Amino acid sequence: MEINPVKGTHDIYLEEADIYHDIEKCFSEVAMLYNYHEIRTPIIEHTNLFARSAGEDSDIVNKEMYTFLDKGGRSITLRPEMTAGVLRSIVSNKLYIAKEMPVRFFYSGPCFRYERPQAGRYRQFHQFGIETLGVNTPYNDVEVILMAKQMLSMIRLDNVTVKINSLGNEETRKNYRAALREYFGGHIENMCEDCKRRYELNPLRILDCKVPNDRPIIEKAPVITDFLTPEDKEWLNTVRDMLSDLGVETVLDTHLVRGLDYYTGVVFEIASNYKEAPDFGALGGGGHYAHLLKELGGPDLEGAGFSFGLERVASLCQIIFKEEIEKYQESLDFYVVGLNDENIQNNFKLITSLRLEGFISDMNYEVKSMKSIFKYASKIGSKFVIIAGDDEMNKGIVRVKNMLTEEQYDVPYDDQLFAKLHDLMKEYYEKRFNDNSEVEEESGDIN
Ligand code: HAM
Repeated sequence: MEINPVKGTHDIYLEEADIYHDIEKCFSEVAMLYNYHEIRTPIIEHTNLFARSAGEDSDIVNKEMYTFLDKGGRSITLRPEMTAGVLRSIVSNKLYIAKEMPVRFFYSGPCFRYERPQAGRYRQFHQFGIETLGVNTPYNDVEVILMAKQMLSMIRLDNVTVKINSLGNEETRKNYRAALREYFGGHIENMCEDCKRRYELNPLRILDCKVPNDRPIIEKAPVITDFLTPEDKEWLNTVRDMLSDLGVETVLDTHLVRGLDYYTGVVFEIASNYKEAPDFGALGGGGHYAHLLKELGGPDLEGAGFSFGLERVASLCQIIFKEEIEKYQESLDFYVVGLNDENIQNNFKLITSLRLEGFISDMNYEVKSMKSIFKYASKIGSKFVIIAGDDEMNKGIVRVKNMLTEEQYDVPYDDQLFAKLHDLMKEYYEKRFNDNSEVEEESGDIN
């Protein structure tokens, strides 16, 4: 009986897995240039960690968490996001004491939310993100947004909009909540059951409602920007001005309140403007949180961070860079042919040296005809085939065939072998990519 993947999950393999790998590598490199270090925290945490951080009345905690009792009767949750776990770890391990300020971490891994699956929305998805704690100035927010933007630039996704807003300080949010309660008081009877509950607990969360009937009412609700204190406004303006000076333009989005309760002050989201790709929702988002570490039992240090959704970033790359991905796809460098058991056994030495030299290499492990081995090597896109059979060994050579030009070379099997293989590889790349462009131009003329 075939067992299907769980709804809302997906397998990532072959070219798609390569893209995830490349994105994570580029993002990690940028984070390390900013002096961040990696942190890996458990996928399972005590449920109350998320209730305390994301907010008990948030959709994530209320409707979307994968929560179960373990065999010891503890309530455990698969993390719906990474920030809470990272901060919990900073508190558990007292990383704020051991490390110089600011504490800076980047992370990557799976998250779980029981959402309605659709394009760009999964029940298991991956986040790459960063958290920084211990700096209480707008400069930290500037750097966090700058870094997010640079990560996308590193993978050449520059056609994006950085939406920004401020959720202000406690006083701002208190006044705003009161204004929302007053406004929604006149409409709540006609709104969905969730909104009625949110109205009692935290009217700010009504703004997350996606029910079509409720949206027109929500669109006309007061916006938090009108309630910001002069200090909140100055902070937000400093962040925006500095980012603009650094070449990152931001767009003020007065409706941006984010779906998690821990934010204070500046919040942001990054949206794609690529018309070629469907709108998967925000590529990433984050912001400032003044009290989260303290609420989780740590010292009173302010923090900021963001996370990208890797599914959304990878899907966008697959669409935008489709042709390049196909053209430059990493394939095998050398396929080594053995025509009898003795050849195959000897080939282990050659293939191990090739791999240590940095060449992606493979070989046949069963005796087969030359014809079928070549057919296979061609099918998997190997750049070269190396034949090291009895004849070649007797002559102290290997025969190297360029699968693109079909040229063959007898190369001495001595300490100059790898130098010659590097030369051949260089020629292969020059031929393949230069010639391809000529072929494309010629075919353009015919059309
Ligand atoms: P978030 O906006 O909930 O923020 O999620 C961050 C990103 O994760 C989203 O922008 C989106 O790309 C991706 N994402 C969220 N849900 C799904 C889903 N169901 N399927 C696919 N992708 C999804 C956070 O999680 C915060 N922890 C970000 C943060 C870090 N704030 C401060 N530090």
